[in-house]
Amino acid sequence: MGQIIDGKTLAAEIDKQTMTEVQKLKNQGVEPHLVVVLVGENPASQIYVRNKEKRASKLGIKSTLVTMNADISENELLLKIQELNQTEDVNAILVQMPLPKHIDAFKVTMAIDPRKDVDGFHPVNVGKLFEGKTQHTPIACTPQGIMEMFQKYHIDIQGKRAVVVGRSSIVGKPMAALLLNANATVTLAHSYTKDLAALTKEADILVVATGIAHFIKEDQVKEGAAVIDVGMDRDENGKLTGDVDFENVEKHVSYITPVPKGVGPMTISMLMKQTVNLTKWSI
Ligand code: GUN
Repeated sequence: MGQIIDGKTLAAEIDKQTMTEVQKLKNQGVEPHLVVVLVGENPASQIYVRNKEKRASKLGIKSTLVTMNADISENELLLKIQELNQTEDVNAILVQMPLPKHIDAFKVTMAIDPRKDVDGFHPVNVGKLFEGKTQHTPIACTPQGIMEMFQKYHIDIQGKRAVVVGRSSIVGKPMAALLLNANATVTLAHSYTKDLAALTKEADILVVATGIAHFIKEDQVKEGAAVIDVGMDRDENGKLTGDVDFENVEKHVSYITPVPKGVGPMTISMLMKQTVNLTKWSI
């Protein structure tokens, strides 16, 4: 039976360290400041944004929410970002995704000053990550949180076969880069991959980010693998569940993350940590 990776406890530990760092900055007269921009009224986004504000407040980080109507023009949003880029008191900018269809999300990502890009989505930061130049570089929070889990649980990466299922810019691509930088042999699989099971069965480290409930079954994992489930799905009863069939897969692996209380709690903690890091790097 696999050891369950406790994301909730690890996230609380990271928050504690972040609080200490915030206090140190405040003693120097610096208050980290995160600005979250929310366009429109997507209910899921509203919940995410509220949770970020709550966490920031708990850790002593100043946070400002900028809400804009769903029908604002792309240009209005770009001007707002420009203004935030130029505001010295703002250390971290996050534009909540998804954006309304008439707004080009990539253009918006590119408009954020890379030094204030708390999501690590700007092409300059993504490029640095893929080059392995990660010092003072913000990196996507979910994969960074997963790397913290590997470290905390002493899960070896060097020389291991890692398979990442899902190639999103938010999780899959930066995850593959981080694992590659840590000297794993990495395969980035996706919806067009042929015979996925043959790959996942070879994986010492398996990271699953497909958004499909219980996509990975017990006959698709290697005995003794470390399995990381990034899914936030709903089962047939509307209950929160992951991309991995936890109950059956758990018997075969050495480590596994649950849903909830696995990867989920880590992301927001890493976001707060990265807000503080951006602040430190700017002074
Ligand atoms: N929407 C879902 N996940 C994320 C994220 O990590 N960052 C932003 N900006 N929007 C998101």
